Amino acid sequence: MRTRGYRLIVLLCFMVYFCLIAPATAAANIPETQLDEINQLWQTSAHALTEVNCSSCHQDPETKQLVVKPTQESCRSCHEYAVDTFLLGKHGIRTLEGLSSLTPAMAHLPMKESAMDLQMSCNTCHDVHSVNTSQAAVDSCLMCHNDTHSLNYKSSPHAQIIDMSGLPRPNQEAVTCATCHLPREKVGSSILVNHNNTYVLKPRDRMVKDVCKNCHGVEHAYNSIFDDQLVESNFAQPPTQKMQTFQLVRDLEKKRSSKAK
Ligand code: HEC
Ligand code: HEC
Ligand code: HEC
Ligand code: HEC
Ligand code: HEC
Ligand code: HEC
Repeated sequence: MRTRGYRLIVLLCFMVYFCLIAPATAAANIPETQLDEINQLWQTSAHALTEVNCSSCHQDPETKQLVVKPTQESCRSCHEYAVDTFLLGKHGIRTLEGLSSLTPAMAHLPMKESAMDLQMSCNTCHDVHSVNTSQAAVDSCLMCHNDTHSLNYKSSPHAQIIDMSGLPRPNQEAVTCATCHLPREKVGSSILVNHNNTYVLKPRDRMVKDVCKNCHGVEHAYNSIFDDQLVESNFAQPPTQKMQTFQLVRDLEKKRSSKAK
């Protein structure tokens, strides 16, 4: 049954492809080899398996016109939370405001020389045709980011926890760049990725509550996150500083228990 349904979808896709996309892309001067490549990426993607095909993104739902280069709005009908959160963070806010997309050339943080003109969109981290999330979670970030903290990630204890290569998506034990900066949140009855890359940075300890606390004690997490050197090393070793608050709480408890005696 599933294979028959799947064959039908593939057939439908080819029809859309030959009747709609091929003529229009020929007009837009897209080489045959690029189309083949796109088709191949799509065929093994989560989208092909869930019957999301070329026309789901490349056809305007109202006018039925072909859209050669869809934007994030083509994802909205199925991924509203991803689109909304993306637009609210540093990565997407320029798009929300109707300005040109963010590029590394605009940054004050250190960026890769080779990435200066890359435009930020859903397609930058996920190839929109393969929608790979493992590649998006670390390697995509390092196409652009070039500061010491980011560069230290791959040698950090977190990066050693599991081997991500070959996995279709980061699993629950993994700690990727995205685990900390695009955390998974409970939205209704689903777990979705919060694409607002500014959200857990402000205030800084929001990351403790939303991320670290899932695996570490609160004290370990606070002591780590407010230690600038440890952040720069991307959490290369256990925290050495002790937050004063925890010491004060402990002193108070000691005092109380000695009074109670
Ligand atoms: C999940 C949505 C989605 C699906 C499914 C999808 N595309 Fe795309 N496609 C996009 C987006 C978004 C872009 C624009 C990428 C960018 O910003 O450059 C794009 C770009 C393209 C381009 C390149 C346009 C250019 O100027 O470089 C071609 C060609 C294309 N798609 C063909 C296809 C074909 C053929 C299929 C089906 C096998 C398909 N797409 C399925 C979203 C999709
Ligand atoms: C017609 C509905 C639909 C549209 C439009 C759509 N998607 Fe999807 N997408 C799905 C479904 C269904 C899944 C599989 C179930 C899930 O993971 O939510 C999925 C999964 C994904 C995944 C996760 C893949 C994985 O391996 O876990 C990503 C990333 C994604 N889509 C990105 C996009 C982007 C980017 C766009 C727009 C360019 C888009 N989608 C447009 C329905 C859609
Ligand atoms: C900065 C890189 C980046 C950008 C830009 C980005 N994503 Fe993602 N996205 C990721 C990563 C990484 C994951 C997987 C994280 C995880 O599972 O821990 C993900 C997961 C997803 C998922 C699957 C989980 C879920 O919440 O359903 C969808 C769907 C998705 N992205 C859609 C989009 C859409 C739509 C856009 C554009 C509005 C977009 N993404 C832009 C990095 C990005
Ligand atoms: C196309 C290049 C590009 C990619 C890919 C990219 N970023 Fe960024 N990111 C930027 C730029 C540009 C800024 C703005 C920096 C500035 O203003 O100095 C930024 C800002 C940030 C910030 C700071 C947010 C703030 O509010 O200060 C974080 C955190 C971040 N990115 C994390 C990530 C992570 C994690 C990934 C991968 C999942 C990623 N980025 C992928 C280009 C990129
Ligand atoms: C264990 C969690 C964790 C991991 C993993 C992690 N980061 Fe960070 N990141 C942080 C914390 C905490 C900060 C400091 C936030 C602050 O200064 O307010 C930070 C800061 C940043 C900033 C600077 C934001 C600014 O405005 O100064 C960028 C960019 C960034 N991280 C990107 C990345 C990238 C790219 C990766 C993966 C290669 C990564 N991070 C991995 C927790 C993490
Ligand atoms: C998915 C679980 C998970 C999350 C989320 C996570 N960590 Fe970790 N972290 C680990 C594991 C497992 C290790 C131990 C690696 C080892 O022993 O080699 C580790 C190691 C560390 C270390 C260094 C070595 C040590 O044992 O103390 C620091 C510091 C650290 N984490 C801080 C953080 C901070 C801060 C956050 C949140 C921003 C965070 N972690 C989020 C699982 C996680």
